[in-house]
Amino acid sequence: MSDSNRNAPSLDAFWMPFTANRQFKAAPRMLVAAEGMHYTADDGRRVLDGTAGLWCVNAGHGRRSIADAAAHQLASLDFAPTFQMGHPIAFDFAERLAAMAPGGPEAGLDRVFLTNSGSESVDTALKIALAYQRAIGQGTRTRLIGRERGYHGVGFGGISVGGIVSNRRAFPTLPGIDHLRHTHDPARNAFAKGQPEHGAELAEDLERLVALHGAETIAACIVEPVAGSTGVLIPPRGYLERLREICTRHGILLIFDEVITGFGRLGAPFATDFFGVVPDLVTTAKGITNGTVPMGAVFAKRAVHDALMQGPEGIELFHGYTYSGHPLACAAGLATLDIYAKEGLLTRGAELAEDWAGAMHDLRGRAHVSDIRTIGLVAGIELTPRPDAPGKRAYEVFTDCFRRGLLIRVTGDIIALSPPLIVEREQIREMAEIVGAAIDRVG
Ligand SMILES: Cc1ncc(COP(=O)(O)O)c(C=O)c1O
Repeated sequence: MSDSNRNAPSLDAFWMPFTANRQFKAAPRMLVAAEGMHYTADDGRRVLDGTAGLWCVNAGHGRRSIADAAAHQLASLDFAPTFQMGHPIAFDFAERLAAMAPGGPEAGLDRVFLTNSGSESVDTALKIALAYQRAIGQGTRTRLIGRERGYHGVGFGGISVGGIVSNRRAFPTLPGIDHLRHTHDPARNAFAKGQPEHGAELAEDLERLVALHGAETIAACIVEPVAGSTGVLIPPRGYLERLREICTRHGILLIFDEVITGFGRLGAPFATDFFGVVPDLVTTAKGITNGTVPMGAVFAKRAVHDALMQGPEGIELFHGYTYSGHPLACAAGLATLDIYAKEGLLTRGAELAEDWAGAMHDLRGRAHVSDIRTIGLVAGIELTPRPDAPGKRAYEVFTDCFRRGLLIRVTGDIIALSPPLIVEREQIREMAEIVGAAIDRVG
């Protein structure tokens, strides 16, 4: 063992999530510290964070006030149950979230169920939708509609409504699920800045499913307003509006999965605000605590919540997590929301969107770049796959960027960029330069 890795941990025990374990362990990439826009790798190199961790560190790394709030909370009330008991900070946090709820006060999305992750938020929202339909006398509505190329986490509910084959093929999924067609249409929409022009009519696919199954069997339809994990798929103009109309017409609840788009990613607090389309339930996680402590929240329309507060007294919704409203996560969340408000981060993406789009679209014309999509502070750069090895080209770009000091994310042959919302214009240019050079080198 050389001196430099004498303190390196054994890599055997940790079964890494969503990772090619053998490949990683043969050539590990380790991050050991983080501050502001940068990670530090284990060899001391600074690495620019082009992905806000995993779409979650929206206020940048190492925020002192979050650490202080969390430490203070741990020292005063480390844990208390929220089943038939309460502690003030959970109520405070839910009130703060309700006050900034997606769509503003008129939208009425001001009842908040706390979870610990995006996957839990999704399964929670699906269960609330089913419970709601039952409560209003629509108990035949048990079917859930997702969309191809949707990612809704890894619970059985989430993979069932999700539309990623690798996440589904090895596992049984829930019965009574169907999927809308996805909206990705590079033949008509390639290199769109912001919302693409073509494809609003794809929302009519929900009418097809209504005709096929009967509206009275469908409880809810869940979509990501902008699909993140499958490569930044931006909704065509008018698409979400039409989906909303069709759901309303048929008594189907509309769920926006805002685990990525929530908390400023698009340049508005939520995608609901950005697109001006109001769903009935919104799932969030990630940026809610700046990625510091696992936490998620489901925003529910007051009418949905209130429908379940009828009937004889007793537990209205048989659902919850030991750590729903965990004091540490709530403290981190409150400190995070303070930073977002004080620094205007939830709308900063709007100020930077043009520079961001400009820098990213300048990569057009490089070899193998088949599409570039941007919205807010998100970009998807699609590469033509190598005929014999899909995904390999983008993976090589990823490792090349990391060697040269930039963390990006790839999914198949699509590069996704989503920096912390504190990113400076100079760093946007730096990201584009490193990615461009990597694309050239990889060839
Ligand atoms: C839209 C969406 N929903 C759900 C999830 C799952 O979140 P988690 O990994 O916190 O369970 C993700 C994660 O990336 C996501 O992007």
